[in-house]
Amino acid sequence: MRIEVCAPPERIAGLKMHPDLNIFRPPARQKQALVEIAASPDGCVTLATDGDQIVGYAAFHRPDPFERWGRDETGGIYELGAVEVAPAYRGQGLARRMLKETFETGRFDDKVVVAALYYWHYDLERTGLSAFAYRDLLERLYQSVGFAVYPTDDPDIYAHVENALMARIGPRAPKEVKESFEALRFTHEEGPWGCL
Ligand SMILES: CC(C)(COP(=O)(O)OP(=O)(O)OC[C@H]1O[C@@H](n2cnc3c(N)ncnc32)[C@H](O)[C@@H]1OP(=O)(O)O)[C@@H](O)C(=O)NCCC(=O)NCCS
Repeated sequence: MRIEVCAPPERIAGLKMHPDLNIFRPPARQKQALVEIAASPDGCVTLATDGDQIVGYAAFHRPDPFERWGRDETGGIYELGAVEVAPAYRGQGLARRMLKETFETGRFDDKVVVAALYYWHYDLERTGLSAFAYRDLLERLYQSVGFAVYPTDDPDIYAHVENALMARIGPRAPKEVKESFEALRFTHEEGPWGCL
């Protein structure tokens, strides 16, 4: 299996999407989303390919403006939006290799990359893992490339113990980017029960 770091949009468009890459969206729609991310000036889509088929991907992009992280004004906060490997290819280290090889380019060393772990994205059915065991799996995977778990008052995260906020603070991330990340972790807005 080949890892293609930050593949160009034309390359992604010319490949087939494995039919079981369907955790986030139906495969055709997800492929289109990956092409759009790769075509955006700040996007990066790293692929795992088997011949002319995409069997896994990791997508990095700037946060959507309507999200909490989208309020960052430094331009230095990025999101690891999705990592997915087709079930038949799992457990072979592809997710780990995609992340390792992307970060080894140094492209994100002056950035803060956030990853929100939401249990509603966990593939509990096909792994047979509990939500906690699955969160541990993801924490270990992301920690292997320098992410750590951070507390936050984001209600989508703290309302569910199976969820977590992880981030990788790049070794060359400027002070203002780190400060922006700190400020956005706790915005002291009203939570889902109005108790903040
Ligand atoms: C999470 C996911 C991307 C992992 O892909 P993968 O290529 O199988 O992962 P790797 O082979 O690189 O393994 C990464 C770690 O997970 C562990 N792991 C993978 N599958 C596992 C399973 N079914 N049970 C227990 N551990 C497992 C591996 O042992 C490894 O940990 P280790 O290095 O500490 O041993 C894949 O399961 C997937 O696509 N899941 C659905 C989408 C998802 O949950 N994405 C993450 C949130 S955006």
